[in-house]
Amino acid sequence: MAIIGSGNIGTDLMLKILRCGGPLRMAAMVGIDPNSDGLARAKRLGVPTSSEGVHGLLAMPGFEQVRLVFDATSAEAHVEHWEALRHTGVRVLDLTPAAVGPFCVPVVNLEDHLDAPNLNMVTCGGQATVPIVAAVNRTAPVTYAEIVSSISSKSAGPGTRANIDEFTETTAAALEVVGGAQRGKAMIVLNPAEPPILMRNTVYCLVEGDCDHAAVESSIAAMIERVRCYVPGYRLTQPVQFETFGPDNPLHIPETGKFIGTRVTTLLQVTGAADYLPAYAGNLDIMTSAALATAKSIAAHSLTNVGG
Ligand SMILES: NC(=O)c1ccc[n+]([C@@H]2O[C@H](COP(=O)([O-])OP(=O)(O)OC[C@H]3O[C@@H](n4cnc5c(N)ncnc54)[C@H](O)[C@@H]3O)[C@@H](O)[C@H]2O)c1
Repeated sequence: MAIIGSGNIGTDLMLKILRCGGPLRMAAMVGIDPNSDGLARAKRLGVPTSSEGVHGLLAMPGFEQVRLVFDATSAEAHVEHWEALRHTGVRVLDLTPAAVGPFCVPVVNLEDHLDAPNLNMVTCGGQATVPIVAAVNRTAPVTYAEIVSSISSKSAGPGTRANIDEFTETTAAALEVVGGAQRGKAMIVLNPAEPPILMRNTVYCLVEGDCDHAAVESSIAAMIERVRCYVPGYRLTQPVQFETFGPDNPLHIPETGKFIGTRVTTLLQVTGAADYLPAYAGNLDIMTSAALATAKSIAAHSLTNVGG
């Protein structure tokens, strides 16, 4: 495995790969800032490094043995990296919101994309909220999903700050394509509070009519357990809320007009494993753990194919 991007996401991912002890092996950590903390940590931990970007990676001895490259730079840089890597045969897991390849939210659709040459891991907000929309949509078709992710400003590096528009567009698209909502909308808040706040997510799902509350609750609970397999700090902050809007009290939505049906509200908190930044940065974990789970499944799938 190689990682491009030695910032918050790339460094957290590297530490997780090193700690998980196989079958994935860190072959390289690549950046463009020779003074970055991520490259310094990689060197200290015995991981080969380059500060010459993707071309430095291509020139590294042993690159031909690299099977999978994680890109944790920025959406703009990813487009260039994919151009440089696409003809080499390596698989690419894109942790930026560039959305070049199909969206992957492991608990919902990983099995559909195990052979994709480039897989997009959506966004931290997408990894936290798309599973909930998918869970609701399994029991009651979601006509509109709106999410708000709130993360500590400290955990958003320059790469994240450059990608705010891409965050909203890519997350909204994934709410529809992977979550199943007819329409999706996403917002992010970089909260500068000190001490830093934990990652919080609010998920609103509008469903037609009066849905089966118990069925929705149990579908959400089952989905949360699946996400907790790789992010143990992912949990509800309070029970799922249901509000009904009838002909006498419709909900007014500026873009679509009057809504009659049920609004399902899910409030989530993500406490991180503190592999790199402290536990408040659950937004790093939800992304890097999803990427790691995906990489493990791809590795197992490739071995099965070779074996078979
Ligand atoms: N921080 C989060 O919570 C979070 C969560 C999910 C996804 N993301 C996405 O991950 C990406 C990185 O976010 P971050 O917060 O880690 O940012 P960051 O600025 O901390 O890290 C980006 C790193 O990439 C390096 N870089 C930039 N261009 C490069 C290039 N061409 N080649 C090699 N290295 C390059 C930078 O020097 C920096 O070290 C962004 O696209 C962001 O949207 C961030």
